[in-house]
Amino acid sequence: MDQRTYVMVKPDAVARGLIAQIIQRFEDTGLVIERLELGMVTRDQAAANYAEHEGKPFYEGLIDYITSGPVVKMVLRGPESVMVVRKLMGATNPRDAAPGTIRGDYGLVLDANVVHGSDSPESAKREIAIFFGE
Ligand code: RTP
Ligand code: MG
Repeated sequence: MDQRTYVMVKPDAVARGLIAQIIQRFEDTGLVIERLELGMVTRDQAAANYAEHEGKPFYEGLIDYITSGPVVKMVLRGPESVMVVRKLMGATNPRDAAPGTIRGDYGLVLDANVVHGSDSPESAKREIAIFFGE
């Protein structure tokens, strides 16, 4: 059964000209792009997306970073897409992410880790509503 997930190419990766390569990774596996938009994340959207991290020491920096420049917002669809995207992204800290994963290949620092993907089908539904109003 197909599942939808929310994926975002983060500001550092957009600024570095990596949009095409990163989207290619997802398309190569057979995931289908259902929605796609380049634009800024508002502070309200950032706070809603990262509500689980409110109060943590890295929270303010995270909100500043994700609103610092354009991102690519996407809804991807496919079997087990949430899990498949998380596997393709690799570990949260790019220095721990395996070679061959997006973060492992394109990232070096935890604060600017290239890509975001929903961590559960429930998060996906919530995040798609935040960014695409569905
Ligand atoms: P994301 O939500 O961005 O896809 O990343 P994730 O699920 O792999 O990681 P999560 O735990 O949700 O953390 C969200 C973002 O916060 C930054 N972070 N910093 N300094 C720290 O200890 C720390 N922990 C997390 C990362 O940039 C991470 O992507
Ligand atoms: Mg997360």
